[in-house]
Amino acid sequence: MSTSATPPLSPLTITFGPGNATLEPQGQVLTRRMSDLEGLFVDGHAWRQAVVDGDPVVYTVVSSPVPEVPRELPQSITTIYPGDTGGEFWMTKGHQHPDPQGEIYLGLEGRGGLLLFDGERAEWLDMGPGTIGYIPPGWAHRSVNVGDEPYRFLAVYPGSAGHDYGWVLAHGMGLRARRGDATVELVPFGAPASASDNPTRPQE
Ligand SMILES: [Fe+2]
Repeated sequence: MSTSATPPLSPLTITFGPGNATLEPQGQVLTRRMSDLEGLFVDGHAWRQAVVDGDPVVYTVVSSPVPEVPRELPQSITTIYPGDTGGEFWMTKGHQHPDPQGEIYLGLEGRGGLLLFDGERAEWLDMGPGTIGYIPPGWAHRSVNVGDEPYRFLAVYPGSAGHDYGWVLAHGMGLRARRGDATVELVPFGAPASASDNPTRPQE
């Protein structure tokens, strides 16, 4: 059941809870488990195994009571837990705004990245506490946890923007973020799941 407020809203303050993990007052809470991310990781076998092996929570989204309706400006805190599936860092589903409007993400905790794709160009923004990532209109966006702790950020977005998750399934995100030797490794979206799957790699 939605706990969003009904317009017209009165001016209000919203405060961060312990660890910047919650909002007070708080609205809807969304939980995305591995089984909710079907078709998103390039290694489908590793994804299915993770679902069988406990179907972990990959990320949560805690919203303020400000509703997603025209002219309002909702906010939410997303927490992506650390991990990788087939070497691909845990991430959000990613979406495009059906009504192309901008959005800002403010890094709160942990180490993350913001992957943006406009259908032709892909961009990667390093994110962390105190970093504002700007998402221009028309760019699909996905967040990634590239650290060993939960990565948490605040999103502020126009209430009429909407969320088109199918756009990402149809068009991809241009790049994927994989666990590299020391840092994040960005590879083309269609690259094989691991080096051992690469048919051009010499057999050892
Ligand atoms: Fe968005």
